[in-house]
Amino acid sequence: MNKRPDSAGLTFRQDYFGDPAGWAALVCLLQDIFGIDIGPLQQLGGPDPTSMPFGWFDAEGALAANISAFALPFVLNGRIIHAAGLQSGAVRPPWRGRGLYRDLTVKALDWCERQGFEAVILYTDKPSLYEAYGFRAIPQHRYEGAAPDPSIFSGTARLLTPSNADDLALLQSLLKARSPVSSSLSVTVNAAMFLINTQLDPDVRVSLLEDRQAIIAWKMDAAGRFSLLDVVATEIPTIEEILGGLDIASAAVEVFFRPDKLGWAGAPQPVNSGTVLMLRGLGDEVPHFPAMLSPMADF
Ligand SMILES: CC(C)(COP(=O)(O)OP(=O)(O)OC[C@H]1O[C@@H](n2cnc3c(N)ncnc32)[C@H](O)[C@@H]1OP(=O)(O)O)[C@@H](O)C(=O)NCCC(=O)NCCS
Repeated sequence: MNKRPDSAGLTFRQDYFGDPAGWAALVCLLQDIFGIDIGPLQQLGGPDPTSMPFGWFDAEGALAANISAFALPFVLNGRIIHAAGLQSGAVRPPWRGRGLYRDLTVKALDWCERQGFEAVILYTDKPSLYEAYGFRAIPQHRYEGAAPDPSIFSGTARLLTPSNADDLALLQSLLKARSPVSSSLSVTVNAAMFLINTQLDPDVRVSLLEDRQAIIAWKMDAAGRFSLLDVVATEIPTIEEILGGLDIASAAVEVFFRPDKLGWAGAPQPVNSGTVLMLRGLGDEVPHFPAMLSPMADF
């Protein structure tokens, strides 16, 4: 696993998000490989400050290969796990098959171990790439069920626009103080991912329930079905309060995390999105109940 990579013509660097050229090289790599534009993150408070990128740069300063680690504490079965996340793993086609990705993965995992993280998580559509490093897949489940009748339609929620400075400041302060949205499986803080995910999916709406100081990330599909993606608050409101505040009368609800704090019980459904959540560490622990990380935490 520690074979030397063929890195002729390339220079290894780490910790380059503070260097505008290094950050720009990553934005460009992710645009080219995944068609994702993380550039707007710079106007939304910047990349996660705990990020530690590892990469091979070519002579022109372009990134040939990258993987980034960052602190991603999450709750699993009621306990906060001091975990790291791995993201933005990619190698440009001309540089593939030379062991560059293996090299960066080993370097990132060594760093995670030296930092004392007790677990590492990632999302991938190529689970076999990570099994050799001890990662295992964690099944993901959303919940479906009938919507409760909101007793009071207050309709007081207002839509937030993360690119608006006042709305961004409000989002950031609530994200900083949030409680885990589920005791089974949920992130504790990850403001940067929440904020960029509001930009990557144009269907995501972000509303403020003023009286509850709660941010609701949600969607409505063409058939009028309500999807609850995340709730950011110190005290999680019930689903009645959420539907009432948003003034939504949907017959059915889908919740993309375990709804143990919503005062509502749906039926768990496996999520087969093509990407797999993988965990390294913690023995063979898995969520005690069907659960998933909110799509707003996707990284
Ligand atoms: C997947 C990817 C990162 C591999 O990069 P690479 O530099 O060619 O990988 P390496 O040469 O370091 O090979 C590392 C190992 O991965 C294996 N591997 C390479 N591509 C793979 C793939 N598509 N699926 C599964 N395993 C793969 C190699 O066989 C090698 O195994 P070994 O360590 O047992 O020898 C690269 O093809 C890529 O950027 N793809 C598009 C983006 C992507 O899928 N990123 C990862 C998603 S989380």
